[in-house]
Amino acid sequence: MHEITFINPKGNVRRVIKAEPGENLREAAIRNKFGIYPHLFKILNCRGRGLCTSCAVEIESGKTAPRNDVEDAALKSKIGKKPNLRLACQVAVEDNLVVKTQGSF
Ligand code: FES
Repeated sequence: MHEITFINPKGNVRRVIKAEPGENLREAAIRNKFGIYPHLFKILNCRGRGLCTSCAVEIESGKTAPRNDVEDAALKSKIGKKPNLRLACQVAVEDNLVVKTQGSF
């Protein structure tokens, strides 16, 4: 099991959850009843298809596979300002992670 620590934009810990190796980050959050979506995107999101960017988070520490093509396309305009930006729905958990959740981008 890996530990995922979710922090808010100020760096305060919001929640710590456990995830299975290889588990999708978004699905691990949902399974642990942790909300990664801001505002109305809790309801209005693409359900993990990499289309809406509402699950965007920053990986503050921990190893992950490089950003995939879906993320590169969806986050193209935002990566310059936030190089650790990822789509939680596209990240497989392979390490203990510290993940910064965002209100909006
Ligand atoms: S849930 Fe829509 S991009 Fe991740």
